[in-house]
Amino acid sequence: METNVQVHNKEFELLLEEDTIAKRIRLMAIQLNVDYENRNPLFIAVLNGSFLFMADLMKEINLPCETEFIKVASYHGTNSTGSVKDALGMPSNIKGRDIVIVEDIIDTGLTMQYILSEIAKQEPASVSVCTLLFKPDALKVEIPELNYVGFEIPNEFVVGYGLDYDGLGRNLNHIYRAV
Ligand code: IMP
Repeated sequence: METNVQVHNKEFELLLEEDTIAKRIRLMAIQLNVDYENRNPLFIAVLNGSFLFMADLMKEINLPCETEFIKVASYHGTNSTGSVKDALGMPSNIKGRDIVIVEDIIDTGLTMQYILSEIAKQEPASVSVCTLLFKPDALKVEIPELNYVGFEIPNEFVVGYGLDYDGLGRNLNHIYRAV
């Protein structure tokens, strides 16, 4: 099996094989199936990176549930932080619901912190974060809702299985890290 790939002009080496990813997702789903029994959870996936993870995870969820997709846009603003975020497609009727946010990767955690603050405004019954990948060494903010983590990975750039490097690589079946 080929282990290195080139995306743009950068070389990446194999980090997580397709089979390993699939097995881990099955285990995460088993846990979710237990934890959310009789709760009709609403899974909210964060596009673009989570599209394959969300699809594979949902195939293993066997309880009544709903799904939504949001996209976080960042604009360069004039405020002190220099960037303004917007959660496009956020459902507006989640008061009292049990929410599971599905994300491909948590790096600094700033994107997730913003999503959590937007969701909290609507007073859901509960919120959990389910991420396939987590870089603990890159985290800049606490995410107490981070209850489901597929893999903890080193603080290195990764690509594949939904994750891109400058637009390319989302269609790779395995996950690779920059060499
Ligand atoms: P955070 O706000 O720093 O946690 O970054 C979250 C977003 O950055 C993710 O949803 C990804 O879109 C992107 N990202 C962070 N690390 C990587 C990586 O290693 N490869 C590809 N995308 C990444």
